[in-house]
Amino acid sequence: MAKQITIEHVFKVFGDAPQDALDLVQQGMSKSEILARTGQSIGVFDADFEIQAGEIFVIMGLSGSGKSTLVRMLNRLIEPTSGRILVDGTDLGSLSPRELRALRRKDISMVFQSFALLPHVNVLDNTAFGLELAGVDRAERQAAAQAALEQVGLDGWGASYPDELSGGMQQRVGLARALASDPSILLMDEAFSALDPIIRTEMQSELLRLQEVKRRTIVFISHDLDEAMRIGDRIAIMKDGQVIQVGTPDDILRNPANDYVSHFIRGVDAAAVFKAGDIARRALTVVNEHSDRGCRPALRMIEESDRDFAYVLSPRQRYLGTVSAESLRRALQGHVGTLGLQHAYLDNVPSIAVDAPVANLFGQVAAAPCALPVVQADGRFAGVVSKTMLLKFLDRDTPPVPPSPPSSVTATTGSAA
Ligand SMILES: Nc1ncnc2c1ncn2[C@@H]1O[C@H](COP(=O)(O)OP(=O)(O)O)[C@@H](O)[C@H]1O
Ligand SMILES: [Mg+2]
Repeated sequence: MAKQITIEHVFKVFGDAPQDALDLVQQGMSKSEILARTGQSIGVFDADFEIQAGEIFVIMGLSGSGKSTLVRMLNRLIEPTSGRILVDGTDLGSLSPRELRALRRKDISMVFQSFALLPHVNVLDNTAFGLELAGVDRAERQAAAQAALEQVGLDGWGASYPDELSGGMQQRVGLARALASDPSILLMDEAFSALDPIIRTEMQSELLRLQEVKRRTIVFISHDLDEAMRIGDRIAIMKDGQVIQVGTPDDILRNPANDYVSHFIRGVDAAAVFKAGDIARRALTVVNEHSDRGCRPALRMIEESDRDFAYVLSPRQRYLGTVSAESLRRALQGHVGTLGLQHAYLDNVPSIAVDAPVANLFGQVAAAPCALPVVQADGRFAGVVSKTMLLKFLDRDTPPVPPSPPSSVTATTGSAA
C-alpha cells in the first residue's frame, strides 16, 4: 500500500548552533542574513505540506534550494533540526534505530543520480544488493531482483556486467535496485538528471507505466520544469530552503504564487502541458442540424453573418461536421427541395480531442481551411481552435490561459480565425 507523508514545520540548519539560527528565523530574518550573521546555513526553512499516498510528487528548484536536504529527511538520512515528519501517521523521529532500518528496507527506497553499480558483480546481484545488505537470503533476493529487472525492461540482462550496459540501462538497474524491496515510497533525487534527453523521456514514461501497474508514493526531485510538469501529479517549488508553492502542474501554470514562480515557469513548454480544451473558444457560426433543416437555411445564415464556415451540431450539441458556403452551394447545385447538411460536410476539417496537447495541433490547424472543432470524449462540441488562437498562445506576453470554453454552445457569430 502506498503511504502518505506529512511534513510539519520542518527546518534543517547546518552548523553547530542551529538554535541561534532558528531564533533568528522566528524574528523573520532571511536565510542569507542568517548565514551572514551566524555562519549557520539553512537547508530547509519551514517546510509544511503533505504528500498523498500514490501520487508522484515532484520537488523542484534551482541548485542549492534545499531539495536534497528535504528528501533526505524523509528517510532520516538527515535529521530535521525541528519539526516533524510522519509516514502514515508515524513520527519518524520516534523510531528506534532498528525500526528505522526496517522502514528503509521495506517501505522507503531511494534512487540517486549517480549510484555506484558494483563493477565486478553482475546485474542481477547488483539489483539484489540492497536486499543482500538487509540480510535477505540468496534465493529470495534473486527472485525479487529478477522481478524488479523485468519491471524496468531489463529481463535477460541479469548475467551481464555493468560495463556492458549503456548509461540509461545502468540507471534502470538503479531503479530496479530500489524496486527490489517492493517499497511503498520511492525517493528519487535527480534520478534522471544525468541522462541524455531521449533516454530521459523514456525513463519518465517508464516511471509513469510502473505507476499504472502499481501505485507508489513517489517523491521525485528535479530541476527540470518540463520533467516536473510531465510526470508530477503535484509539484512543490523551492527557493532558498522554502517551499514557495505546492500545486498541480495546472495550478502552478495558471496561478503562480509570486513573481519568482512566474519567472521560473516562463521557460516551460506550455504547448506540451495545455490541452486543446484549454484554449478552445466559443465557435463563431454554429448551425443546429435539426432546427435549421438542411443546406439552404444554413447557406443563408452563413452568407448573412458574412462567414465562410459553420459547425454543425446535433440538438444534443454533438459535433457532426463542418460546412462552408462553397460546400453548401456545391451540394445544392441542381438540387430542388430540402437537402440534409451531411451532403455538404467538408472532409478536410478533422476534429480535435479536448485532451490533445496544444503542441500537437500546429500542423493540423495550419493545414486546415478554417478553425478546427474541438470535441469532448462523448462527442459534444467544445469550441474551436484557430491559427490566430495558437499564435496568441505562443506569445509569451499574453497570459496562456483564456477563459474556459462555454459549457453549451448556441448559434453565435463573431470574428473568425
Ligand atoms: N552538509 C551540509 N553542510 C552545510 N551546508 C549544507 C550541507 N548540505 C547542504 N547544505 C546547504 O543547504 C542548502 C541546500 O542544499 P541542497 O539540499 O543540497 O540543495 P539542492 O539539492 O536543492 O541542490 C545549500 O545552501 C547547501 O549549501
Ligand atoms: Mg540536490
